[in-house]
Amino acid sequence: MNVLGIESSCDETGVALVATDGAAVPRLLSHALHSQVQMHEAYGGVVPELASRDHIRRVLPLAREVLADAGCTLADVDVVAYTRGPGLAGALLVGAGVACALGAALDRPVLGVHHLEGHLLSPFLSADPPQFPFIALLVSGGHTQLMQVEAVGSYRLLGETIDDAAGEAFDKSAKLLGLGYPGGPALSRLAAQGNPSAFALPRPLLHSGNLDFSFAGLKTAVMTQFRRLGDVPTSGQRADLAASTQAAIVEVLMKKSMSALRESGLDRLVVSGGVGANAELRRQLDAAARRHGLRIHYPELSLCTDNGAMIALAGAMRLQAGVAAASKDYAFDVRPRWPLDRSAD
Ligand code: KG4
Ligand code: ZN
Repeated sequence: MNVLGIESSCDETGVALVATDGAAVPRLLSHALHSQVQMHEAYGGVVPELASRDHIRRVLPLAREVLADAGCTLADVDVVAYTRGPGLAGALLVGAGVACALGAALDRPVLGVHHLEGHLLSPFLSADPPQFPFIALLVSGGHTQLMQVEAVGSYRLLGETIDDAAGEAFDKSAKLLGLGYPGGPALSRLAAQGNPSAFALPRPLLHSGNLDFSFAGLKTAVMTQFRRLGDVPTSGQRADLAASTQAAIVEVLMKKSMSALRESGLDRLVVSGGVGANAELRRQLDAAARRHGLRIHYPELSLCTDNGAMIALAGAMRLQAGVAAASKDYAFDVRPRWPLDRSAD
């Protein structure tokens, strides 16, 4: 079975083709991505209407590219999977509309997929795929969650952010430091030149006794420290503040992940979502894993941020596991807000 996946929930248009071939884990045949980062850069963040319009321009050429690259034609597509939510409503509608139009034209069923399930399962495409059960740390621009994952479709929320997501903390702090959008990669590059203990920044909810997160206060603390540096902070001061900010975010993510593993008795952690690309987070998690005899799985770096491969994969894995059925009812809807532990709704 070949599943074509379409991702359009935010500022990346992604298309991919996976094959199930009877293998336990679907195989990625081809994927293509167009990032809108340059287009949104001038505005300091994603402009939803521009995002939707650009998805319209990109999605069909990307689909053609993916099929050609895999040596396939539209006739080889058995199911079309698309991101049904969460995300920007207009952007989601583009992917959903194109997926359902393709399905109807080809007389093939379609399947709406949860974006975070795509992130969560994306390490299955890596050279070192995980095994169920595991704890998942989902850290993206909009979400910070710890989940207990028993199987495909079986996700129990253990804790989540009560305000900003970790990616938002990176992005907002980066903006304060005058770095571009998206801020995560820029802040982590600057942080590599700084001293992570130069500024005392809060570790929100570190000792809360539960697995929830809070990052809104951190952004305020970064702003206060930045203002204290006066009008023209030196590049060293900016690097120190970037390193201290990253250290605060990473420490909380690392310690809460370790608590989730300890409390659940599980020894596998899957880290996914854009912030999972952060080198310092990976370094600290890997060090903790070595100390405690744990296994950590990451998606390939290129599949950490949004992409179509994870959507094709999640669709294929849901179908393989029998937890979802693709449908020829092409009356699609999208779910801009959609909790992952209710993804069967
Ligand atoms: O998963 P993703 O691509 O999109 C959403 O579903 O939100 O995540 C995007 C987020 C942004 O906040 C971005 O700044 C952050 O991931 N990010 C990083 C890094 N690469 C991306 N944050 C820290 N370090 C990175 N290397
Ligand atoms: Zn994402």
